[in-house]
Amino acid sequence: MPIFATEIYDLKFTLQHTDPQSKARAASLQTDHGTIETPIFMPVGTVASVKGVHQRELREEVNPDIILANTYHLYLRPKTDILEKAGGLHKFMGWDRNILTDSGGYQVYSLSANRKIKEEGVKFKSHIDGSYHVFTPENVMEIQRTIGADIIMAFDECTPYPCDYKYAKRSMHMTHRWLDRCIAHLEKVPPKYGFDQTFFPIVQGSTYKDLRLQSAEYIANSGCEGNAIGGLSVGEPAEEMYAMTEVVCGVLPEDKPRYLMGVGTPINILENIALGIDMFDCVMPTRNARNGMLFTAEGTINIKNKKWEDDFSPLDPAGTTFVDHEYSKAYLRHLFAANEYLGKQIATIHNLGFYMWLVREARKHILAGDFASWKNQMVRNMDKRL
Ligand code: GUN
Repeated sequence: MPIFATEIYDLKFTLQHTDPQSKARAASLQTDHGTIETPIFMPVGTVASVKGVHQRELREEVNPDIILANTYHLYLRPKTDILEKAGGLHKFMGWDRNILTDSGGYQVYSLSANRKIKEEGVKFKSHIDGSYHVFTPENVMEIQRTIGADIIMAFDECTPYPCDYKYAKRSMHMTHRWLDRCIAHLEKVPPKYGFDQTFFPIVQGSTYKDLRLQSAEYIANSGCEGNAIGGLSVGEPAEEMYAMTEVVCGVLPEDKPRYLMGVGTPINILENIALGIDMFDCVMPTRNARNGMLFTAEGTINIKNKKWEDDFSPLDPAGTTFVDHEYSKAYLRHLFAANEYLGKQIATIHNLGFYMWLVREARKHILAGDFASWKNQMVRNMDKRL
């Protein structure tokens, strides 16, 4: 039996509306750093920086209620003692809205070489300097207390795709035992900076329905104030991802937020909102921007294509950020051709602005009661290459 969470993970979650034609929800979460209106997309600021975007631009142009940072990266650099001296991550990076930290349960598998997974924890080699480190459920909770995010994640194993059934089952049970250890440790170590931290456990189980069901039940029974789904968007077909989300959302409590980790394309986001997901994060808008890929409501643009060379129309006439109107496609194409930093910055602000517009628009349509038809039309439009 899992250890039940206590009021130390208290989070106010208000469900405002559920779409009658799908499972989409509009809700709000209240933390000590403000209100998060869902569905929400969390821009990724892995090393305490959303790459290429000043915090002021992030606040004023992209305007997210919450961003994400990574335990694995911050632990390796600048290291937790520096974050503690700074008074926590909010102060260190000059961001006074919400932050969520991922636990390292994904990065340790995707980034570090020579990792060894045991019941006790994971020994891994730093991708920065080759030094060896150990992550356990206990020390990862300790590190996340010191980083000081508003929402902190359980230490889990994110299985690869494909993953054989036996491995997925063994790994899922270990993730559940690690969850109990995370909770037990958090009960002993209070938050450090005078505000609450909410803890989310993570459902695993690869692409096996029976395992996903079992894991969702275990995670739901842990009684935490929000729940996450991991191990998806790791190479499986989108239909398999949706099937797993649907199974898991059928079990996770309705009165708590649901966070689908590492997802995804604009279409993935809308389809998963329709299945009952409230929170998303993904490197796609920022990483793809740096490669010249722009997401728009009419489809995707590869700004490096010659066809944009003399297109002096605004970057995205329907866009919500200043870059969409102040710069032309031809200018952005030129910046990419000349390999100028500014090109990557402009594309990043555009893509993040678009992702935020997308989830906010989804929320408006959920509240207005026409989400399902709007979503279907958007999915058709966004599936195009311009
Ligand atoms: N990010 C994307 N997928 C996962 C996952 O399965 N676990 C964790 N901790 N982070 C993730």
